[in-house]
Amino acid sequence: MSGEAEIEKARRILNGAKSLAVFTGAGVSADSGVPTFRGSSQDALWGKYDPQVLASAWGFQKDPKLVYEWYSWRRSQLARVEPNAAHLAIARLQERSGAVVMTQNVDGLHERVAPAGARVLRVHGTILEDRCMRCAHWEKVDLNSPPNLRMCLECGAGYLRPGVVWFGESLPEDVWEESQQAARECDAMLVVGTSGQVQPAASLVERAAGARAKIVVVNLEGGLLDEYATAALHGRAAEVVPRIVD
Ligand code: OAD
Repeated sequence: MSGEAEIEKARRILNGAKSLAVFTGAGVSADSGVPTFRGSSQDALWGKYDPQVLASAWGFQKDPKLVYEWYSWRRSQLARVEPNAAHLAIARLQERSGAVVMTQNVDGLHERVAPAGARVLRVHGTILEDRCMRCAHWEKVDLNSPPNLRMCLECGAGYLRPGVVWFGESLPEDVWEESQQAARECDAMLVVGTSGQVQPAASLVERAAGARAKIVVVNLEGGLLDEYATAALHGRAAEVVPRIVD
């Protein structure tokens, strides 16, 4: 856990911001029991599974049932989790200062506690919906009874796949535009629970730092994004974020 001086520095940055942006990754949901992809945890998904197989259009084309079943397993996990103290503190920041939240997470946990009308920009899409491989059809899924692999009933020509962004795919254009703008225009950015290893999402931090925003990084361990940090706090998001927000 970080020292009081660093906590105080982070508090001052968040309180003094005129335009605040928040950028999060899997680590913000770790304290809710959602596994991260990387990091030192033994549960980290990409330590156990191959992202080329399970998180690429190539993998889905090769074995759609295997890939879809893996997402069904993740959906069942998400049916049992709740937002944690970090999500709640970030929602208070949104309420208090109109902070825009940009998240790489597909789990919907920020959205569940965000104040009405607040922006949560999902740069990697959502696991709470499926979309057709062929047409523009999207549909919600019930996390409590995730559906099986099925064809799209709108066009009848394509499988439905999870509405997440896979490796090699473009980010949703409008969301990405808005995120880049928020990164350019903020004067402080709170970065929580991301390894910073996945581009272009992680470039939002570099972009904000390049525009002279102050950067507060909260992460369990040191990582790539500490390079941009005005204040770097190492600890669990659910403990550290409420301390610097309140
Ligand atoms: P990663 O799994 O790469 O990084 C999560 C970070 O959170 C690691 O640095 C961990 O050390 C840290 N961490 C773990 N537990 C924490 C806790 N309790 N509090 C604070 N930090 C903690 O996750 P992302 O950076 O989000 O893509 O990964 C980026 C993308 O890679 C994801 O969006 C996903 C994945 O492939 C898609 O789903 C499209």
